[in-house]
Order: sequence, then C-alpha cells, then structure tokens
Amino acid sequence: MPEIILKGAEEVLALRRACRLAAQTLEEAAKMVRPGENTLAINEFIHAYTLKHHATPAPLNYKGFPKSCCISANEVVCHGIPSKSKILREGDIVNVDVTTILDGWYGDVSATFYVGTPSPEAVNIVETTRRCLDLGMAQVRPGARIGDIGAAIQEFAEGRGFSVVRDFVGHGIGRQFHESLQIPHYGRAGYGLRLAKGMAFTIEPMINAGDWRIKFLNDGWTAVTLDGKLSAQFEHTVVVTDDGCEVLTAFSGPLTHSVPPADFKFQ
Ligand code: MF3
Ligand code: CO
Ligand code: CO
Repeated sequence: MPEIILKGAEEVLALRRACRLAAQTLEEAAKMVRPGENTLAINEFIHAYTLKHHATPAPLNYKGFPKSCCISANEVVCHGIPSKSKILREGDIVNVDVTTILDGWYGDVSATFYVGTPSPEAVNIVETTRRCLDLGMAQVRPGARIGDIGAAIQEFAEGRGFSVVRDFVGHGIGRQFHESLQIPHYGRAGYGLRLAKGMAFTIEPMINAGDWRIKFLNDGWTAVTLDGKLSAQFEHTVVVTDDGCEVLTAFSGPLTHSVPPADFKFQ
C-alpha cells in the first residue's frame, strides 16, 4: 500500500485553498436546486464556475467519468451522472458532489439538498446523515483510531433504523484525488490505524433507509440501493490538527436548500 502523505503547514495552505473553492462552488450550485431543474444544468454551472476560478473539475474524465460533478437523487447512493433528462421533482432529495483541483491540490465536498418541500422520510434520512458526518468528524484528533470514526457513524445511523453503505469509503486527499488512507463509515471504536497530525482525508457517509447493499446501473457508474429505498450523503475534507481537525471544506453560512424544517428535532 502506498504511504500516507502527511501535510505540513505549507501544504495545508494549498489544500485549504482548493477546499475553499470546492465549498464555495457547492454553495453557489445549491441555489439551482429546485423542482423542474435538470442535473446537467447544475453540472454546467459547476464546470463553468470552476474554470472561471482558474481550477479544474476533478471528476471530468476521471477513470472515464463523463461529467464535471456527481449528482445523485433519491435511491442513487453516489456517482450519479448529470443528465439533461434527469429532472429534479418536488420532494426529491439530491446529493451534489464537487471535487476541485486548484494549483494541483484537490478539495472534495458534497451535501444532500431538499427539492421543494421535503417529506418526513426525506428529512429523517437527510438530517440523520448530516449528523453522521458531524459525529464522524468529532472523533478526529491525533491518536484516535480510524475505527472510532466509523463506529460513531454506524451507531447513530443504525440506532435510527438506517444502514451504512460498505462499498465506498472516505479517502486520503492532497495532490491526488484518492490517496492511500481509507475511512470506512462503519467499524469498531479502538481499532484500526491511529490518526496523526497532518493526515488529510474525506469523511463521506452514505446512509440508506433500507438495506446497505448497492448495485451499479448499466452506465458502470451510478450506484443505487439494491432495495430502491432512499440514500443520503454528506462529505467534507478534513485535516488532523494538534487537538482535533480542521474542516477544510466548511461553508460560509447555511447551505441553501439543505436546511431542515424550522420545527425539526431528532426524536
Ligand atoms: N467525489 C467522489 C468522492 O467523494 C468521487 C467521484 S469519482 C467520479 O470520492 F469519477 F465519479 F467523479
Ligand atoms: Co470523496
Ligand atoms: Co466527493
């Protein structure tokens, strides 16, 4: 297995810039999420915004991926291919995943959005998944184990009757899209590699309403739930600091169309 590349102060500066642009791109793209919009239009916005900021969209041509971002609605777990014929509908949930290359550094971020007014089922899975990412990030500090992250996520998701996707994991990131660290979103506390200052990676839990198993569509990319039930995902890029982690892809404020109803509370 290739070595884990630790990032020093200079490298974190460069990574932070790429991550900030990725987050800013997603914040702007979020404003396009509405009933009747097609996912290719959102892709085209992300592509143009990225180029305008002197950066490159990482997904385009990555292992043959045909578009500049991934857009995954409802039962699509991840790697949905933007398409003019994929029209967002009232009540859908949709993840938009942006990966930006700036000055050779990668920033990777995603969020799930509500299209119009969400159903209680939609709010339940989206807010559970948002909390899963927060709980996972809260485990990150020097000396913690990779299993601590997955265990925190799995415990919360399964405690609410959901399941954690196994087929995709968080990943090391830096001057490459996917570096050698792997961060499962399930696991056992106290097990696995110890985290150290300067490790940079994504945490990107995919949480299913039903069973955790997935299948691929014939396009070779689109991963969907085997049982056809809903799936949600949130992703941030983080770096381990002296006493915790820095969320490099943090947003500047509330994310448009990814806000729970005012009266939402976990039961
Ligand atoms: N952004 C995805 C991730 O979080 C990877 C997308 S790969 C692509 O790791 F080829 F589908 F773009
Ligand atoms: Co990622
Ligand atoms: Co991503």
